[in-house]
Amino acid sequence: MSSFTNERIAPTSASPNMKNYEQARGHFRWEEVESEFTWHETGKINMAYEAIDRHAESSRRDKIALYYSDGQREEAYTFGQIKSSSNRFGNVLRQLGIGKGDRVFIFMPRSPELYFALLGIIKVGAIAGPLFEAFMETAVKDRLEDSQAVAIVTSPSQLPRIPVQDLPHLKHVILVGHDLRLEQGQVDFHQAMESASEELDLDWMDREDGLILHYTSGSTGKPKGVLHVHDAMVQHYYTGKIVLDLKEDDVYWCTADPGWVTGTSYGVFAPWLNGATNVIRGGRFKPADWYATLQKYGVTVWYSAPTAFRMLMGAGDELVSGFDLSKLRHVLSVGEPLNPEVVRWGLNVFKQRIHDTWWMTETGGQLICNYPGMAIKPGSMGKPIPGVDAAILDDEGRILEPYCMGNLAIKTAWPSMMRRIWNNPSKYEEYFRFKGWYVSGDSAFRDEDGYFWFQGRVDDVINTAGERVGPFEVESKLVEHPAVAEAGVIGKPDPMRGEVIKAFIALRDGYTASEELKEQIVRFVKTGLSAHAAPREIEFKDKLPKTRSGKIMRRVLKAWELNLPTGDMSTIED
Ligand code: WT7
Repeated sequence: MSSFTNERIAPTSASPNMKNYEQARGHFRWEEVESEFTWHETGKINMAYEAIDRHAESSRRDKIALYYSDGQREEAYTFGQIKSSSNRFGNVLRQLGIGKGDRVFIFMPRSPELYFALLGIIKVGAIAGPLFEAFMETAVKDRLEDSQAVAIVTSPSQLPRIPVQDLPHLKHVILVGHDLRLEQGQVDFHQAMESASEELDLDWMDREDGLILHYTSGSTGKPKGVLHVHDAMVQHYYTGKIVLDLKEDDVYWCTADPGWVTGTSYGVFAPWLNGATNVIRGGRFKPADWYATLQKYGVTVWYSAPTAFRMLMGAGDELVSGFDLSKLRHVLSVGEPLNPEVVRWGLNVFKQRIHDTWWMTETGGQLICNYPGMAIKPGSMGKPIPGVDAAILDDEGRILEPYCMGNLAIKTAWPSMMRRIWNNPSKYEEYFRFKGWYVSGDSAFRDEDGYFWFQGRVDDVINTAGERVGPFEVESKLVEHPAVAEAGVIGKPDPMRGEVIKAFIALRDGYTASEELKEQIVRFVKTGLSAHAAPREIEFKDKLPKTRSGKIMRRVLKAWELNLPTGDMSTIED
C-alpha cells in the first residue's frame, strides 16, 4: 500500500522513444502499430517469425540476439543461429506428430535450449506452457492435467517430478541432457536436434490463435490456465518501444523466469520483436553476480522486481560502487509495489529513476506505467499506456472520482488481453462482470493528474517476492499432511519480500504442536508443491474461524495477524 505524495522526479532520459505522452495518447490507434508488421496485409502471423526470423532475414542476421550465462555456461547466439535452432526444434515436434493447438510444456532450468524449444513450439502453431523450474510434483501434475499437454521438454533433474503414469495425454518427454538412458516415450533433445533439418516452413497463424498458456493462482480453486494469442505481439512490440524504450543498440536484461509471464512477454517477445540484444542469466540470485552481469554485457535497459531491488539495496552501496554500470540508461520494475525509498536509492546508486510498471498474467502486457519521458511520482504505478483506459470502479461498476479507493479496472480490450481461461469459461466471465471492463482484483486510486496508486488485492491472493501464490493451492497441500486437520493461509507483510506466506493450522487428534512438526510440514509443502509456496511461518490453533458453510475465513486470520478488528462475524460457524 502506498500513500500519496506530490513529490515528482523529472525525466532523466534525454530522448525517449515516446516524446510526449499526451500527444501519443491523443491520436493513438493499435492499427497503426500493426501496420509496422508484414502480416498486416496477409492477416497471417507467427510470433516466432516476427521475433526471430524477420531479423535473421535482414541485416540483423549476425547481430547477437542472446547472451546466456549461468556461472558455468557462457554463450552467445545470433538471430540467424536462433532461427536455425528453433527451426530444428519445430521439425522435431512435427516428426512426433505435434502441431497446431497442441499443448507442449517446458519444465527446466534456464538455458539457451529452453528458448529454442519455446520458439520451436510456437513456430509449429502449438501452444507453449512454460512451468517455473522450482515446481514440485503436485504443481506440475495440476497444470499438465488441466491443459492435457501432449509433450514436455524437460531435464533429467526435473524428470522425477513429472508423474507420467498419471498423465494419459502426455505422450512425449523430450529430455535435454547428456548420456541419457531413454525409456519409452522419451526423446533425446540433442540427438533429435542434430538429425532435424534447419529449414522449416512455419505455420502461419490467425491472430486469435493460441500462443502461450501461463498458469496463475486466484484465491479459490486450482491454478487457472490463462491463454494468450499471437495478436499479443502488437502490445509486446509497442510497449517494448515506449515503456522499455528499446532502440537498435540496446542490450536488455529482464531478470524474470520464463515460467512467469514477465519472463516470456518481456524476457522473450518484447525485446526480440524490437530486435534488441537479450541477456539471459541462469542460476541463483546473488547481488555481486547481478551487478557483474550488468557490467559484463554493458546492459543498457534493465527490467527487474522490487524484492530484487530491496535485496540489492540490503547488500550495501559499497558493493555496487565496485562495478561499472555507466552503460545503464533505463531501469524498470514490476510485480509488486515499488517503495519510494527504493526509487530514491536507485537515483543514488544507478543515477537513474526506477520506472514502476503495472500489469498481470491475465493482461499479457504492461498497462499502467511510468515512461522515460514523464515525471515520476514515487509510489505511483504511473499512467495507462496510449490505447488503454483505466478507471477505479465501485462494487457496482460505477466510475469513482480521483482519490477514491476502489477496483482497478481496464476498459476492454487490448491486444495482449487473455482470450480464455483453459477449461473454465465461468472464471473468465468473472473478470468481465461489469460490461466493458476487465476487473483486475487490485484496489487502487487515481490522482487528479491521472496517476494510479496501488493499494492492495481485493481478494486473498498472496504476492511473495513478486510471485503470485494462491492460498487454496497451499492449503490443499497442507491438509494432505497426516498431522493437519485444517489449514488457512494468508500473506503476512514483510519488509523484504512484500508478503510472506503464513499458515494457521489445526492439528488432528493425537498430534502435538512442536517446532519439529512445523519444520516437517514446511518441508512437506516445499517438496510436494514448490519452495516459493511453502509457509515461512506456521501458527497452530485449536480451531480455525469458519463460515457456516465450512469455508475458512482468511479475512479473520489476517485480522488476527495484524491485530485489527475482525469485522463482520455474523456468518461465522460458532
Ligand atoms: C499482480 C499480478 C505481470 C507482472 C508480474 C506479476 C501485483 C503487479 C505491480 C505493481 C503493485 C503490482 C498486482 C497484480 N502487481 N505489478 N507495479 N505495483 N502491484 O504478475 O503474477 O499475474 O501478479 O501482481 O497485485 O494483480 P502476476
